[in-house]
Amino acid sequence: MTTTNKVDRALFDDVMVPNYNPAKMIPVKGEGSRVWDQEGKEYVDFAGGIAVNCLGHCHPAMVKALTEQGNKLWHLSNVFTNEPAIRLAKKLTDATFAERVYFANSGAEANEAALKLARRWALDKFGPDKNQIIAFNKGFHGRTFFTVTVGGQPAYSEGFGPKPGAVEHVDYNDLAALEKLMSEQTCAVMMEPLQGEGGVISPDVDFVKGVRALCDKYNALLIFDEVQTGFGRTGSLYAYQQLGVAPDILSTAKALGGGFPIGAMLTTTEIAQHLKPGTHGSTYGGNPLACAVAEAVFDVVNTNDVLEGVKKREQLFKDALQKINDKYNVFKDIRGKGLLLGAELTEQFEGKARDFLNAAADEGTMVLVAGPSVIRFTPSLIIPEQDIVEGLARFERAVAKLAG
Ligand SMILES: Cc1ncc(COP(=O)(O)O)c(C=O)c1O
Repeated sequence: MTTTNKVDRALFDDVMVPNYNPAKMIPVKGEGSRVWDQEGKEYVDFAGGIAVNCLGHCHPAMVKALTEQGNKLWHLSNVFTNEPAIRLAKKLTDATFAERVYFANSGAEANEAALKLARRWALDKFGPDKNQIIAFNKGFHGRTFFTVTVGGQPAYSEGFGPKPGAVEHVDYNDLAALEKLMSEQTCAVMMEPLQGEGGVISPDVDFVKGVRALCDKYNALLIFDEVQTGFGRTGSLYAYQQLGVAPDILSTAKALGGGFPIGAMLTTTEIAQHLKPGTHGSTYGGNPLACAVAEAVFDVVNTNDVLEGVKKREQLFKDALQKINDKYNVFKDIRGKGLLLGAELTEQFEGKARDFLNAAADEGTMVLVAGPSVIRFTPSLIIPEQDIVEGLARFERAVAKLAG
């Protein structure tokens, strides 16, 4: 056991549960889309805390909201309500299909609430047999036992004992398979309107429309998990707004707080009424600090300037990645929407996405992976153009090292 006061990566291994294996370096400071580690080495941040830091690090509007609220009121519990929570809920409902909001602390919790609400809605309206939940292979919905079971990657849900039942999966974009499985016993279909963790996979618009139609046909709820795609990430406040298909329930987290933990479930009045007082809750859900920060993030993100800027930056990234590929031929596909982008490696580099991540970090650019063969980019929605250029120049040096 280490006994010094030095905080380093070795101490992590001594004191932390080993469910994570973080990078060797420890970041200590961030500003905009730049981050510095303990040694003073600087990085361009294309990871954005996995699609969380939508306004980069320490955005002045967020710092202001947090410090102002921090000097006023920190926590009440849900025995009392608070002004920031009500204001944020009003903004979210004004900007979306939703009429009601439930606040949580994370994406998984927002999804847990969505799934429980769907089951309760179905029980109240149609009886206990209507309990089937259908989701999609490679989908990701969080790490609680219910959400990991609904997620379409069995590796994450196996080995913990009996799973919650009546959860089934079909392939994403396979409407025929979904249709075969659906019936009056289907309570809800849960999907990401672009699979993030599963490899940055876009849905066909017709598929999404077909899912909506099947849900309508069988009186099932459509739940969109917009934890990763939401809050400006794809160039609209929520991705559904560009698909032309509205869900019945939507979950949002990650970028909602821009780095402060918060999640939310959005739905209609008619559905929301099935979560009566006492049916569900959370000590911290709707915490005033979290809601004050999220409100500040909302005011910046939900503007034409930022949302149109996301589309411009998408093109900058895609063009630059294509240029890198023209030289080194490492990607078989460059895809995604807005600033949720993926570059899938060719057969020659299959399974090696993490090597690219590590090489990029060595060169001073933070990127992510989405599965073994896809490099993922989820930077700040307002990342300056010169940071995109500099970060990709560093990334190209990493690619050259591995493929040159
Ligand atoms: C689509 C989606 N849903 C849910 C989650 C879980 O969110 P959290 O880690 O905040 O619980 C994630 C996290 O990556 C996600 O991408």
